[in-house]
Amino acid sequence: MSDQLNYNMEVIKVEKSRINDVDFNNLSFGKIFSDHMLICTYKNGAWNAPKIVPYQSLTLDPSTKIFHYGQAIFEGLKAYKDSNNDVFLFRPDENCKRLNISAKRMAIPELPEAYFMDGLKALLQVDKDWIPTQDGSSLYVRPFIFASGRGFHASPSDEYTFIIATAPSGPYFSGKVTVLIEEHYSRSANGGVGYAKAAGNYAGQFYPTQLAVEKGYNQVIWTDDNTHEYIEEAGAMNIFIRINDTLITSPTSDRILDGVTRKSIIDIAKSEGIPVDVRKITVSEVIEAANNGTLKEIFGAGTAAVVSPISGFGFKNKDYILPELENPYANKLKKRITDIQTNKAEDAFGWRVKV
Ligand code: COI
Repeated sequence: MSDQLNYNMEVIKVEKSRINDVDFNNLSFGKIFSDHMLICTYKNGAWNAPKIVPYQSLTLDPSTKIFHYGQAIFEGLKAYKDSNNDVFLFRPDENCKRLNISAKRMAIPELPEAYFMDGLKALLQVDKDWIPTQDGSSLYVRPFIFASGRGFHASPSDEYTFIIATAPSGPYFSGKVTVLIEEHYSRSANGGVGYAKAAGNYAGQFYPTQLAVEKGYNQVIWTDDNTHEYIEEAGAMNIFIRINDTLITSPTSDRILDGVTRKSIIDIAKSEGIPVDVRKITVSEVIEAANNGTLKEIFGAGTAAVVSPISGFGFKNKDYILPELENPYANKLKKRITDIQTNKAEDAFGWRVKV
């Protein structure tokens, strides 16, 4: 794999920017897209040099393999701009690594690191004006690879397309988040693809989540596929549970995504002197803690959602309400991570990357 791009990346700019049509004070999540995108194709056994082009629709043959076999993976990260107009990314190397971990599991050829890192930085330079600075907003960056080869044979594609598209975005959730502990459906299984950011992992969640939404909840808390006794993830986020003063989160496994926000929150919490226990946690332990008053907080952690406090959960037709604390860990941890991301605080961990 090459570590450095040894050419000048081709950049084809839009004739007229769409930026003046955007109301940056009222951004929703991932609905409008900036002027340009990065595109890179894999053909004849090699990734071709990426280029930056105007954001545009794709024309695909009906037999394109992504439509039939779902061979696709993605990443999510955010770009921020500080008061000096400097642009920052948060641990983008982790996204690059994970993209290739997902690629391997989905039989997709690994992407050279430089194509990802240098391509991403070049794209952000071109669309720098699209990075919002309003509180809680950022430029959501979506790198993805899909099988763009043709044919109905159920085998890996011989062609792939890597794209990075970006969307100026506000918060992922608005308002309180309630969750239903899932007792039947599963998000992943041992030996499966749960640890990969495979597109189908998310599609598979939609139906159980719809059922939860019909019952009045926003998201599902995923339990293990085998016994449904262990708590694993919350919707499209990793999950943290605070019992007394200790923050508990499941260890990563075949079934659990190795979230960048998850591991950053663990490190930040430890540095704040918060006891952190990375261990399996059962639904019964959480119910018992809710009943005896030791369950203090539950929150989800993910790139899109950052740190999202959960205000209540349902289990076996009963609702449990989380207490409203004066100084919840969730607020403290969210502030610390966003201050690091947006260059408002010292970055003792060396996570922030200036573009
Ligand atoms: C993210 O948090 O960036 C994700 O990839 C989850 C996504 C489904 C919004």
